[in-house]
Amino acid sequence: MSAISFLLNGTPVTLTDPPPTRTLLDWLREDRGHKGTKEGCNEGDCGACTVMVSDQRGRRALNACILFLPQLDGKAVHTVEGLRDPDGGLHPVQQAMVDHHGSQCGFCTPGFVMSMATGQINGVTDHDTHLAGNLCRCTGYAPITRAAEAAARVPAPQWLLDQTAPDFIATALAQGADGGANPRTADDLAAWYLANPDGRLIAGATDVGLWVTKQLRDLGPVAFIAGVEDLRGVDVTDDAIRIGATTTFADLLPAIAPHHPGFAVMLRRFASAQVRAAATVGGNIANGSPIGDSPPALIALDATLHLRKGDSRRAIPLADFFLDYGKQDRAPGEFVEAVTIPRQPDRLKCYKLSKRFDQDISAVLGCFNITVADGAVTRARIAFGGMAGIPKRALHVEAALTGQPWTQATVDAALSAFAQDFTPLSDMRASADYRLQAARNLLIRYFLEDQGIATSVLEVEA
Ligand SMILES: Cc1cc2nc3c(=O)[nH]c(=O)nc-3n(C[C@H](O)[C@H](O)[C@H](O)COP(=O)(O)OP(=O)(O)OC[C@H]3O[C@@H](n4cnc5c(N)ncnc54)[C@H](O)[C@@H]3O)c2cc1C
Ligand code: FES
Ligand code: FES
Repeated sequence: MSAISFLLNGTPVTLTDPPPTRTLLDWLREDRGHKGTKEGCNEGDCGACTVMVSDQRGRRALNACILFLPQLDGKAVHTVEGLRDPDGGLHPVQQAMVDHHGSQCGFCTPGFVMSMATGQINGVTDHDTHLAGNLCRCTGYAPITRAAEAAARVPAPQWLLDQTAPDFIATALAQGADGGANPRTADDLAAWYLANPDGRLIAGATDVGLWVTKQLRDLGPVAFIAGVEDLRGVDVTDDAIRIGATTTFADLLPAIAPHHPGFAVMLRRFASAQVRAAATVGGNIANGSPIGDSPPALIALDATLHLRKGDSRRAIPLADFFLDYGKQDRAPGEFVEAVTIPRQPDRLKCYKLSKRFDQDISAVLGCFNITVADGAVTRARIAFGGMAGIPKRALHVEAALTGQPWTQATVDAALSAFAQDFTPLSDMRASADYRLQAARNLLIRYFLEDQGIATSVLEVEA
């Protein structure tokens, strides 16, 4: 028997043997009658179900529809029902929404309010980025953004700061929690996975969550690994940048920005704030998706993947991990521990093409890392997502560039090599012709930007 404990709007809750893939959203609405947390898409896309989750690592907005109950063990959850202050008054973001006419039908409003309250308490000022995962069908975003700006000018309520403080959470949960059955160290995880090689690891659940909510799959034995401390974090040494498997994209973004700003710019468009706060680098690699955003960037940076099974470890070039569509070089019971990038002068740019700017999966993602010395290309690493059944290097294009003068003529001559590297598919995101043409154009874009010519509509000024 195992139990999990968490705080719901400041009050301890203990659940014994909760169904491991029951979502917080269903539990709140069906078991607790907390219907303020809305169900829109049930797949992490709309933000209607946003709640605030706090623990030792801080406060973050998460989508309750793809959050399983065991992921809450030891944390504090606030829903819109818990936002009213103890005297019954509105939270500052609620008041600002009223003052700035930020709500019409109101369906999206609790989700917006929870994202905004989390932003306010964290001192967020880039409201467009922070609220990109909350969709509104009727009000329009300008009044909502004005409300967020107004709320940012007043302090976060002290009672909410208190209820979400690590000490308060630890003290309030001191009795009742037994930590569940989840591994807390990489050694625990290695032992569990060896004993359950057919089991399913769940990190952020931003992929796995949808297998449950959309595909109604039974996952069998599961282990929740987001709490494995020694697999999380970014370590920078003189030789390498090591990214632990359970590092979230919210944590990777600021850590990688000083070293490879182009990687961070792309990650700003990885899903939404809510998804980035849960989604892990290990999950993005292990799922083997041909349209995952981090593998092309990591491959272009020559990353090495660190895998572990029991006590044995191996390291392989990340590019070699992706064997074929849906097939990776990973044995039963083997898991991703980390990925390392060799330290290098920054030459990386990543271009994400998707139908929407925010919160959309890539149609094509091109990552270029081309080194030039004395006017000639000395080394080229180019990797794409969305161009094949796996994230894949453009080996022929790299060869066509290497050793050549870094000129428009060299770039033009290399363009024909794309067709040797890739035979993309047509699907709902893009046609094969579009993908091939776009990939060629991205090389031209990299070259032009390297000459100091602005190409992004966000940078070009009339
Ligand atoms: C609304 C929405 C938007 C999204 N947008 C993007 C986007 O823009 N770009 C993008 O790339 N992805 C996007 N995704 C997909 C998803 O967020 C990423 O793939 C994410 O990195 C998955 O990480 P996770 O920790 O949530 O993985 P999980 O869902 O927990 O797991 C995914 C898979 O990896 C396995 N796994 C997890 N960790 C390990 C490990 N350490 N070792 C071995 N196996 C492991 C799991 O068993 C499972 O098979 C989006 C998802 C949603 C819901
Ligand atoms: S219901 Fe849409 S993100 Fe959860
Ligand atoms: S107010 Fe109607 S969806 Fe936002």
